[in-house]
Amino acid sequence: MASCAQKLLEIIYNRRSIRKYHRKPIPDDVLKAILEAGRQAPSARNLQPYCFIIVRDQELKKRLIFSEWNRFIEEAPVVIVGCGDSRAKWAVVDVAIALQNMVIAAEALGLGTCWIGHFIEEEVKKLLRIPEHIKVVAMITLGYPAEKPGPRPKKSLEELIRYETYE
Ligand SMILES: Cc1cc2nc3c(=O)[nH]c(=O)nc-3n(C[C@H](O)[C@H](O)[C@H](O)COP(=O)(O)O)c2cc1C
Repeated sequence: MASCAQKLLEIIYNRRSIRKYHRKPIPDDVLKAILEAGRQAPSARNLQPYCFIIVRDQELKKRLIFSEWNRFIEEAPVVIVGCGDSRAKWAVVDVAIALQNMVIAAEALGLGTCWIGHFIEEEVKKLLRIPEHIKVVAMITLGYPAEKPGPRPKKSLEELIRYETYE
């Protein structure tokens, strides 16, 4: 396999959710490269029915914490809030694909991320002044990792994959 493909697979296989971060800020060019990976994502009918809010303000970040488990949000220098236009049929999927592109790009650039799905949407919308028709799909934390977690349990391919038909 070409070494570039091998490298990409390593990035995907070795990524872990990171819940401890160094306070070190993310340089603008690095953040921009990660956001660009999101911008290049596929979307249904190429509608790109999304917007990503970059939250760096410490007070705002604290207010994005809705459970004790997600306290680490305030440690991460950046939180990216993925918003989709609910009038577009595939908006949730489109946002998820773009966020995951950013996750992989971040990993390639030596940064860590964690998806955040635990939040109260109405409160986030009020806090970040998000209009009615826009859905908060998910967030990701972003920063330089201060932990190196081992592999997490994943189902085997035998459990996940069926050939030709479901049954
Ligand atoms: C949609 C979604 C929502 C998630 N929400 C949270 C969350 O609120 N807090 C958290 O600590 N991790 C959250 N995670 C991370 C998962 O717990 C993590 O991906 C899973 O345990 C597997 O670990 P890995 O990412 O290291 O492979 C979320 C992941 C996804 C995809």
